[in-house]
Amino acid sequence: MDRELALEFVRVTEAAALASARWLGRGDKNAADAAAVEAMRTLFDSIDVQGVVVIGEGEMDEAPMLYIGEEVGAKGRKELGPRVDIAVDPLEGTNLVAKGLPGAISVMAVGPKDSLLHAPDMYMEKIAVGPKAAGKINIEWSVRRNLEAVAAALEKSLQDVTLILLDRPRHEDIVREAREVGVRIRMISDGDVSAAVATCIEDSGIDILLGTGGAPEGVLAAAALKCLGGELQGRLAPEDDEDRERMASMDQPEGKILLLYDMVRDEDIFFVATGISDGDILRGVRFGSGNTARTHSMVMRGRTGTVRYIDALHRLDKKTFWHF
Ligand code: FBP
Repeated sequence: MDRELALEFVRVTEAAALASARWLGRGDKNAADAAAVEAMRTLFDSIDVQGVVVIGEGEMDEAPMLYIGEEVGAKGRKELGPRVDIAVDPLEGTNLVAKGLPGAISVMAVGPKDSLLHAPDMYMEKIAVGPKAAGKINIEWSVRRNLEAVAAALEKSLQDVTLILLDRPRHEDIVREAREVGVRIRMISDGDVSAAVATCIEDSGIDILLGTGGAPEGVLAAAALKCLGGELQGRLAPEDDEDRERMASMDQPEGKILLLYDMVRDEDIFFVATGISDGDILRGVRFGSGNTARTHSMVMRGRTGTVRYIDALHRLDKKTFWHF
């Protein structure tokens, strides 16, 4: 994919972040999500790619826009641009925005056709670490063994290692074991894509992510970690027969360990995110006087591993798509 596309993709997550940021703390997660989806969908029309949404807002009958299988991009001119898989989460952390909490982002990964795992909407067990601990962890090991491996890889004592995980009752055993080991724990109420990416950002203070979150979010995070040289392993965690049937139809045996390569099968990928509320990896949207706004985004490319941070000042009165 043409590297110039990076800036085009950033415009997409910027638009979604700007639109949903207006809903910060207003207690309406659906409105915040709908604004992000509509803005993201609108911006896609201006990009010269022939994209198919492989991870999106749901099946065609349950989502009006950015549904799985929807064709986006190339201003309707289907002969234009490379054929790409698109994974989106226009608003990752709907509750965070609704409650005015930190850590919400708008996020997207793009790769060549058939490069991204079409992760079903179910849970996934995950372990993620940054580049120094990549190759040193294993989702099948105990919590203790993984934490010790990370401490050794980072040349830190265990008490200085920071584990991040979603604050959920299902993580009780992980928390108990981690406390026995003596590491620091950061509990977050939502947003495990940011949390996984943070393991690769040197000054984030986060060393390892453990626990179960959404499978689609797992693939989005895998795209980022592939660009950043980190490691993410996952295992689909079906809850009922419907989940199991879906896995069978996708040829995904229960218990199969998904490595980075299984989730993102090509290096020619982009990962893009824009902060909505302030978080570990990005600043949130700031609205300024005179109908202006400032966004903070990251865009990375798998081929080169370059990470660019983009600090943008927007004149909302000059945006053609803006009505939020
Ligand atoms: P939404 O933005 O769809 O609300 O997802 C937020 C999130 O916290 C993800 O980051 C995470 O993977 C998933 O929800 C966890 O699911 P659950 O809230 O059911 O534990």
